[in-house]
Amino acid sequence: MMQVTPAGRLQLAVLASGRGSNFDALCQAIERRDLNADIKVLVSDKENAPALDKARKRNIEAVYLNPRSYNNRDEYESDLVKLLKGQQVTVVALAGYMRLVGPVLLKYFQHRMVNIHPALLPAFPGLQAQQQAVDYGVKYSGCTVHIVDAGMDSGPILMQAVVPVLPDDSGDTLAERILVEEHQIYWRSLQLLAEGRVYIDGRKTVIGGYIDEKGTH
Ligand code: GRF
Repeated sequence: MMQVTPAGRLQLAVLASGRGSNFDALCQAIERRDLNADIKVLVSDKENAPALDKARKRNIEAVYLNPRSYNNRDEYESDLVKLLKGQQVTVVALAGYMRLVGPVLLKYFQHRMVNIHPALLPAFPGLQAQQQAVDYGVKYSGCTVHIVDAGMDSGPILMQAVVPVLPDDSGDTLAERILVEEHQIYWRSLQLLAEGRVYIDGRKTVIGGYIDEKGTH
């Protein structure tokens, strides 16, 4: 079994393409001291992503990286890795980042990149997961935080929360209910990493006991 990160304050980068409510929830958890982390940088591939403004308002470095200025994904990600290395980032949190991560980013942050998805994986990966759940007629859906691998929403699962699907739900009303839980499980998952408690065993994560500063469980 392999430990994902040793215990200690996480140096996070958040990658977001849109609204940034998960980014905000992480900031709030840090402010409350529920999450032992610093957010070093918010990176977006969309110039007008509200997430960029949210970061600027909090005096967190906000960087727009335009994928169209690069010849291919590898070049884009090489630059991104350079930026993240420069900021001494230890863990990358994808929060509504609408791109499939490629080999360059994956290699450098292997097992140290996490994602949040608005469904109970492996059900409903990909886009519009909440609408997929409503259309399918499941009675429960929810959200998943997982370690990123080469697939789409497919890596080892860290945490999930279950949310009922109500008879009158639309994709939007379900999304709202799921979002409340997203804002809880993302910082909680990252805090497990900060406590050095996450191990990978094949496609599973194993969460170890809490060890305090004196080394007692
Ligand atoms: C969330 O529903 C997240 O699960 C999905 O994209 C959405 C991002 O929302 N990956 P926000 O930008 O964090 O508000």
